[in-house]
Parts: sequence; C-alpha cells; structure tokens
Amino acid sequence: MSAGDTRPIGIFDSGMGGLTVMRAIGARLPKERIVYLGDTARLPYGTKSAETVTRYAVQAVRHLRRYDVKAIVVACNTASAVALPALEAALSPLPVIGVVGPGARAAVGATRTGRIAVIATEGTVRGGAYALAIHQLHPGAQVVQRACPLFVALAEEGWVDGPVAALTAERYLSDIFAGDAASRPDTLVLGCTHFPALAGVIAKAAGPGVALVDSAATAAEALAAVLEARGLAQHAGGGAPQFLATDAIERFARVGGLFLGQEVPAGSVELVDLNQ
Ligand code: DGL
Repeated sequence: MSAGDTRPIGIFDSGMGGLTVMRAIGARLPKERIVYLGDTARLPYGTKSAETVTRYAVQAVRHLRRYDVKAIVVACNTASAVALPALEAALSPLPVIGVVGPGARAAVGATRTGRIAVIATEGTVRGGAYALAIHQLHPGAQVVQRACPLFVALAEEGWVDGPVAALTAERYLSDIFAGDAASRPDTLVLGCTHFPALAGVIAKAAGPGVALVDSAATAAEALAAVLEARGLAQHAGGGAPQFLATDAIERFARVGGLFLGQEVPAGSVELVDLNQ
C-alpha cells in the first residue's frame, strides 16, 4: 500500500495554545506529520482589531506554505473567527480548516435545551462568529457570549487551578449560570485555544449539568474528512513534528508542554521571521 500524501499538515496559532488542537490532531491522525507555527512575537491576537489579526494571520500562513504543507488548520479561534475568508483566499486551493465551525458543531451536538454559552477572547466575541455558526446549524438556539481575556494569561502562567483561577472563573461565569436548570445554558463552548487548560475551574463555576465542549476533537475530525475526501491522507510514516515560533522559543518549549500534554524539547523549536 502506498504511503499516501506524505506532505505535512500546517497548524497555525497566535502562540502555544493551538497545541491543544495539535494534540487532538495527533491522536486522530497519528500517521500525519505536522508543522506548527506559533506567532509568539505578536500574541495575543484576542485583544487586537480584526484588520490587524487578518494581516498577521495571512502573513503567518503564507510562511507556513513554504513547508510544502497539504492543508492548514487555523487553530486560533480569534483568527478563525475574523480572518477565515481572507486566509482561504490567500491559500487557495489549499484546504483551510478553522476551529469555529467545528466548535459550533460540537456545541449543537451536545445541547439538549438549545441554550448555549460561548466564552472566548474579545476579538472572537466582538465578531459574533460562534453565534452565527451555531445559528446556521440550530436556528432556534439561544446563544450568550462572554469575553474572558484573563483566562489566556492564567493559562500561560500555568495558574490553571487554585483560588485565583477559581475566583476569575466565578466572576466571569456566575451570572450566566445563575438561573435554574430550566433557564440556564446546558452547554458551554470553550472558544479559545487556552481555555481547555482551565476546564476544571470553568466546569466548577458553571455548575453541574453543563457540558463543556471545545473544537479540538471536532476540528481534527473535520481535517480527517477533508484529507480523505481530497485523497491527501498519509497512510504510513508520521515523524517528529516541527515547531516554529516568531519569538521566545525557550518559553514556547516550556509553556507549550502544558498545552500539548507532552514535552516540547527545547532544541526542537525554530525561530522564524515572518517578514522575510
Ligand atoms: N489563540 C487565541 C484564540 O484561540 C488565544 C490567544 C490570543 O489571544 O492570541 O483565540
């Protein structure tokens, strides 16, 4: 049997958070090789304007294309929410998979009441992309959104449990989940790469009976479907992933391990300049 298409898959994020998506892709598609680019020099994207995020993201994926990638996953929710059409146009005919559509699918699959809460960065919430994607799949859904920017800093600091993380989650979420089971959301979308790291305190603040969903597994599923449909899957081989970052490669390795769930060896991260 042939090895299939041995070109790598490109994954792009504003930083290390997208390694949560890479972890899901590695589990779903273990025979694929991955090149991951984190734009750590310009992180965070979540507080920036849609125009700036689009400019940065287009530059980043153009750089990734130099690695002869066969598909690109935009693991960053903010870039997926505000820049996906521009990224598709910049990369055409390369398949581009964002995480907002898969996250919305996961939410619609999980909800029983149609009441869905979405937490994300300011940029993702401002554009309303999750609400739009959820309504396309479930027109009657009631969607409430909340920007939770401090979760990004907490996750990067490794403060994913303990009193500071618990109080922050309580402050952001208590009013959304204050009602009784007949009125409050039954599903909470973790619409940011960093939030799965804080799932424990988030689940506690949301209270019992709330399903937490994120886009990592559904994005990996969407990628697998696209590769299969276009005859791009790799059937044998695999190989070590390649990590690229635009700044602070030691920090990328140190913090990245938290998101990837396994060590990112310090020497394995290459510094790249997107302006070249
Ligand atoms: N990757 C971003 C996201 O998923 C979070 C970090 C940032 O703001 O750049 O929205």
